[in-house]
Amino acid sequence: MDTFSSVRNDFPLLRQKINGTRIVYLDSTATALKPRQVIDAVDGYYTSYTSNVFRGIYKISEKATSAYEDARSKVAEFIGGSPEEIVFTRNATESINLVYYSWALEHIHAGDEIVTTILEHHSNFVPWQQLSLNNNATLRIWNAGSDGLMDMSGLEKLVNKKTKLVALTSMSNVYGTVIDIKKVVGIVKRINPACVVLVDAAQSVPHMKVNVHVWGADFVAFSGHKMMGPTGIGVLWGKKEILDAMPPYQYGGDMISEVHVQNSHWKESPHKFEAGTPHIAGVIGLGAAVDYLNSIGMEKVREHEIDITAYALSQVSRIKKIHILGPKSAQDKGGVVAFTMEGVHPHDIAQILDEDNICIRVGFHCAQPLHEYAGCGPTARASFYVYTTKEDIDMLVSALEKVQKIFK
Ligand code: ALA
Repeated sequence: MDTFSSVRNDFPLLRQKINGTRIVYLDSTATALKPRQVIDAVDGYYTSYTSNVFRGIYKISEKATSAYEDARSKVAEFIGGSPEEIVFTRNATESINLVYYSWALEHIHAGDEIVTTILEHHSNFVPWQQLSLNNNATLRIWNAGSDGLMDMSGLEKLVNKKTKLVALTSMSNVYGTVIDIKKVVGIVKRINPACVVLVDAAQSVPHMKVNVHVWGADFVAFSGHKMMGPTGIGVLWGKKEILDAMPPYQYGGDMISEVHVQNSHWKESPHKFEAGTPHIAGVIGLGAAVDYLNSIGMEKVREHEIDITAYALSQVSRIKKIHILGPKSAQDKGGVVAFTMEGVHPHDIAQILDEDNICIRVGFHCAQPLHEYAGCGPTARASFYVYTTKEDIDMLVSALEKVQKIFK
């Protein structure tokens, strides 16, 4: 058995059957399945050392605190950062909103410019759209080429000395386009060294080796649940000097060092951004997810996904009247195949696939501007991870052929 056929044994959900049929899970871009190791880590905390962190002078609380901080170190090492640069949030969306409230509102004013891309998930588009509407900053959009790829010369034309922020994804959740962030940061900082770069890495940290220092960006946001961790836990990595200069995002317990009637003082970052009791089980589960991904190796994860995506592209594109969005080569994209089928609404596709327990996502995938730009309505999307097999793709293809027969 190769690594990837044995990997499937780690995911209890894949052993489950509905009406006697196995589940074909092709929606990992929305959320990833959880391996036994993550479930056990969460269960272990709730079963044997439930207690709050940073507060108790007793053994189980000290154990919870060290498990919480160990997970921060694991996450930091996973992306090449240091623990004091890792802020735990609810998800990538909250990480981006933290940058919006604590950094952007203070630094971006009328006349300033923000650059983002047409590929963005709403969570990295709407904050910058709203900021520009509210304070008369200018929002500039870097469009994708007709091949779904991002031409760096397009970026060069958009960035200038007035650009305060470039906020972009490292991988589209619809086209799958992978953007070379190192190259982007090189261009941006050459034109305007003071410009801040924020990367929505929700789709790349789970799927490929990411090193924040190789990228050279200022902020990197991602979610735990898309990398096999629990839902409700996310990460903001930020350069230490930038985090240190930012005010807190929320006030409350745990983020303060002193409170007096007249004034208060904050803890150092990252703790000044983690007000209130955090999602302790989520953080511990995320640490276990990092261990799990490390045990496979991120290079292998990426190789597997290129292999599966190449197979999916070749098989799905054989079906008549299907149009695939985004780059045509698996090397240029993550494990995502979004498509339309002429004459069939994506919701009908999803419903028919569900009869065979094939799980895909349909709609705008929180990327409506991209769908408008592509000139299509909602799309159907199959997405992959370490547990996806070629047999899953074959089942998808047969089910899509069945859809076509029904709608003939
Ligand atoms: N961002 C997630 C997706 O693309 C929810 O489905």
